[in-house]
Amino acid sequence: MSARTAPALIVEPTADNIRRAADLLRAGELVGLPTETVYGLAADALDPVAVRKIFAAKGRPADHPLIVHLPDADHLPRWAASIPKEAVALARAYWPGPLTLILKRESGVPDEVTGGQDTVGVRVPAHPVALALLRVFDSGLAAPSANRFGRISPTTAAHVADELAGRLAMVLDGGPCEVGIESTILDLSRLAEHGPEILRPGAISPEDIAAVIGRRPHVRGEASAIDDAVVPRVSGALAAHYAPRTPLCLIDGVRLVEEASVLAGEGSRVAVLARTVADPHDARLIWRSAPATAAPYAHELYATLRELDALGADFIVVEELPRTLEWRAIGDRLGRAAVGSGGESDET
Ligand code: TXA
Ligand code: MG
Repeated sequence: MSARTAPALIVEPTADNIRRAADLLRAGELVGLPTETVYGLAADALDPVAVRKIFAAKGRPADHPLIVHLPDADHLPRWAASIPKEAVALARAYWPGPLTLILKRESGVPDEVTGGQDTVGVRVPAHPVALALLRVFDSGLAAPSANRFGRISPTTAAHVADELAGRLAMVLDGGPCEVGIESTILDLSRLAEHGPEILRPGAISPEDIAAVIGRRPHVRGEASAIDDAVVPRVSGALAAHYAPRTPLCLIDGVRLVEEASVLAGEGSRVAVLARTVADPHDARLIWRSAPATAAPYAHELYATLRELDALGADFIVVEELPRTLEWRAIGDRLGRAAVGSGGESDET
């Protein structure tokens, strides 16, 4: 390689490259990090200047808090205060894994990470590359999903480069993310007043949580007595999020072919993401079949949406999902994708 060739942005997660990534993070740089949910854009969570770079790179408002990723639950007391026994039990049951806990913050956690709130989000990711980096780094990494604000979260290293090339120092390639949608966020910071509350659904369900703490958490968005004015800010909870640029609509399987054909008949290019409906082999429709069950559907969803978005079609039509428990987190993301699609959302 000549001296003038820029080093590769996407690198294999060798022991050397993981050490380099930790050095870059210690020097205040940003690194793309594979996790089991989606790729993160990581910075040293104790370095306010580095954390500010995350907001600039994503184009995200500075008062939106970030999740701190830890090597293991033993690090928790450095970040969280007044840790309830429920948090300890859940950490034991589901870490490493796709569960973020919102807890009272320790005083040393920078305001840049917490959005100035008195709480902090923490999780231990279940990805061997993330864990290897966190162990070498031996502290917390603040990492939101590695996409521009309001866009689809990345589930491969190439997606991260597409979103953020020129805005980060390195992307560790950990392959496609296994889960494919973001972690469950559980607020335990107001247990005494409000009980446990899920702020964002994910692979760890309310029932999974109930099985460990003996009570079912309230789920944000379901009927609630909590005053919306006092709830914490969660950008993933804005209606428009996870959005493709192409207008996206959800249509019942029974009417899928008919409605897609009507749209196409008006001279539009229509991409269809079906799940149970068979390809009608209509040349006017770009047809993709998604897995019929929830886990593989989630695993592929964001990559498929990116691919369909890149076709430059006039519409993306997605077959509606079952309204059962196992589809709830995926339905949440697709609902937001529909609201935010078409580039007209007020998040930029
Ligand atoms: O799976 C995930 O959680 C991924 C991977 C990279 O770990 N991360 C992720 O980060 O989705 P992000 O920033 O895109 O979404 C995290 C959400 C945001 O909506 C943020 O507002 C919320 O977590 N959050 C973080 N700290 C919080 C806090 N102290 N109180 C309330 N919400 C918080
Ligand atoms: Mg995000």
